[in-house]
Amino acid sequence: MDRQKLMLFAGSSNPELAKNIAKFLKTELSSADITEFSDGETRVKINDDVRGKDVFILQSTCAPTNNNYMELFITIDALKRASAGRITAVIPYFGYARQDRKDQPRVPISAKLIANLLTASGVDRVVTLDLHAHQIQGFFDLPLDHIYAVNVFIDYFKDKIKNPVIVSPDAGGAKMASGYAKRLNCDMAIVDKRRIDDRNTEALHVLGDVEDKDAIIVDDIIATGGSLVKAAEAIKKQGAKRVFAAITHGVLSGPALERIADSQLEELYITDSIPQPNDKQHSKIKVISVDQLLGETIRRIHNAESVSSLFRDNN
Ligand code: R5P
Repeated sequence: MDRQKLMLFAGSSNPELAKNIAKFLKTELSSADITEFSDGETRVKINDDVRGKDVFILQSTCAPTNNNYMELFITIDALKRASAGRITAVIPYFGYARQDRKDQPRVPISAKLIANLLTASGVDRVVTLDLHAHQIQGFFDLPLDHIYAVNVFIDYFKDKIKNPVIVSPDAGGAKMASGYAKRLNCDMAIVDKRRIDDRNTEALHVLGDVEDKDAIIVDDIIATGGSLVKAAEAIKKQGAKRVFAAITHGVLSGPALERIADSQLEELYITDSIPQPNDKQHSKIKVISVDQLLGETIRRIHNAESVSSLFRDNN
């Protein structure tokens, strides 16, 4: 089988990121028409010959999440039926990842259902970035490369911030925070967060010393901004000098922008895993690209080289 040729297709969710990854890989994006029938159904037509090729499809499953997923399923099906040699779904933001367990009676495990649907579509492997819960990897019975934005954020922060402390806004983020603290060779702290409802949280205590330090709050997702803003308030109260944040996926839903604008945060760094329209931009929000990280991951998968060695200091 001719797997010599790498082909990269872009779903409609994040064309800019796909274009930049193609540039990094010194290739052109492959051609597909993704349109809608008049009743709203998604229509996909692959224009290039993919027979036997090593095909990657980039799709962030951010809002409109359901449409973006459906488009991904249909594109994978089209590629499979066109005899692609291997199909890898590159999903920088994995929508539904927060529904990863049955935490109340009579609720679904939607992240598992998504894994089943991707598998049923015919995908051969998956690449994703900073999954909300690591155990989602086990929802797939096929290879999944889980990569981390820590590399790109740390490169940015290491010269910019003196005397840092890494802060997790909740106990669940402690492992992620410890990876950052290890890389920056500094201490970490954890905020004891309680969720009141979907949009609101309260920060009860700060475990760890943040006094006179530049705190960097790290997290996988910022949605309504409640967790971040409450954590920023709590650590300021404990004497932190300045508060920054490095959060991989800028979902920025509901009141997020107003909350960030009125918050104690100096700057919030997010990645371009989710594209930000003009009305979601703010002077406190800086976007760092993961194009090279994803491009290098794709290059290594194509050449059957190690991906984990990119993150050797991470665990
Ligand atoms: C929660 O466990 C996640 O890691 C994020 O902290 C959470 O999803 C952020 O949501 P929000 O911005 O709405 O507080």
